[in-house]
Amino acid sequence: MRQQSKESGEGMPSILIVDDNQINLQLLCGMLAGMSWRVRPVASGIMALKAAMAKLPDLILLDAMMPGMDGFEVCRHLKQTPATEHIPIVMITALTDQESRMKALRCGADDFLSKPVDRSELQVRTKNLLRVKKYGDLLREYNEALTKEVMERTQELQGAYETLTSTQSQLLRQEKLASMGVLMAGIAHEINNPVGFISSNLQTLNKYVERMTEFIQAQDGALKESGCPGETADSLALLRRRLKLDHILLDSPSLLQESLDGAQRVRKIVQDMKLFSHANDDVPRSTDINLCLESTLNLLRNELKYKTTLRCEYGELPAVLCLPDQLNQVFMNLLVNAVHAIEVHGEVTVRSWRDGERVCVAISDTGCGIPADLRERIFEPFFTTKGPGKGTGLGLSISYDIVRNHGGEISVESEMGKGTTFIVAIPVNPSHPPLPLREGGGSNPPAGLDPQEGS
Ligand SMILES: Nc1ncnc2c1ncn2[C@@H]1O[C@H](COP(=O)(O)OP(=O)(O)OP(=O)(O)O)[C@@H](O)[C@H]1O
Ligand SMILES: [Mg+2]
Repeated sequence: MRQQSKESGEGMPSILIVDDNQINLQLLCGMLAGMSWRVRPVASGIMALKAAMAKLPDLILLDAMMPGMDGFEVCRHLKQTPATEHIPIVMITALTDQESRMKALRCGADDFLSKPVDRSELQVRTKNLLRVKKYGDLLREYNEALTKEVMERTQELQGAYETLTSTQSQLLRQEKLASMGVLMAGIAHEINNPVGFISSNLQTLNKYVERMTEFIQAQDGALKESGCPGETADSLALLRRRLKLDHILLDSPSLLQESLDGAQRVRKIVQDMKLFSHANDDVPRSTDINLCLESTLNLLRNELKYKTTLRCEYGELPAVLCLPDQLNQVFMNLLVNAVHAIEVHGEVTVRSWRDGERVCVAISDTGCGIPADLRERIFEPFFTTKGPGKGTGLGLSISYDIVRNHGGEISVESEMGKGTTFIVAIPVNPSHPPLPLREGGGSNPPAGLDPQEGS
């Protein structure tokens, strides 16, 4: 077996011998014959380059003086090529002067021999350089394996670090939302009762004022008709003026109406807070999302018609197992935001389509757009750019919560000055049916608030 491999030369170090002189070439081949090396003679610089590139040798014996491309040039070229730079080169030259040797070294030659070449010297130098090459190869292989392993480990570590960072920020967000949910459920509960009796008392008070007004007016008439003595009539008129009774009678209904509106607004905020803190209950139903969109748009027609041209492009959709009231609320929030984003007049487009096993709804507006640095924050509870009394900043965080509860995703694309598109994607058959949102949001916090998801 060993003999065979020696005959075919397979597995033996190969030596490329380059000399334009056939006699020298044969002489050198002869000197190396009988050793455990495979010898490949070539007769020119160009052929040497081709042969070396075709099959990398372990050593090159290179004649310095050749017509055409001389040994120095071949050497320089091989040493500058990454694939061949590690191959040891022994420059053979008839010139013994210092200058040629220096030139050979400058071209990258590893050793040199002078003509006439001595057989033993040639064999010893060849053996040494082949040994050095072997160790060099081993070292490089080891280095490459090491570098690969370090890179793989670094990548693994990088991946683990990224997972850890995102899990940490997700946990932080969940924690924040959970405590926010508990807080809001508590506040909502506390506010709900007093707001309830404030509203009811205001309505009763309204009726009382109406009755008192009616009585005072009737009394006025009766006093006039019964001919009340001048003195009494004067003092009553004076008192009436001093107490500003006419103004009170005139102003009371609007004061009461404003208070009722305020109480109504507080109720709405409390409702939102309750929903956000999972206080509502519902049963998942097989639903036509296009119908959801239509019914939500019906509620908003009035808001939409003054400022916007509405376009609806409904696709054919499969029924989705969902909590329709909650999805309606998502669409309502997105549509109201779209209207608010339009300053004077613009377009609102509602599109729906099926994307594999998901139903998608896009709500676009041609409004002001959302600055890039705010896009990450819009889903945070209480984040709003609207003035006091105009926005609570809960709309999108509630929407996010609802969509995630349906196993879906909500994403946003926006360009300043051009408009914004929110896309809601809901699975047709969620792996877990949407949970009725429960009291005390801490028990079921949303999984995260990354607005880039799915965008
Ligand atoms: N379509 C949109 N175009 C421009 N900005 C938007 C759009 N939708 C949302 N935003 C920005 O995101 C913020 C948060 O929206 P979100 O719906 O959560 O709260 P809000 O609309 O301010 O108040 P509300 O709780 O009454 O909905 C808005 O204040 C606004 O700055
Ligand atoms: Mg909103």
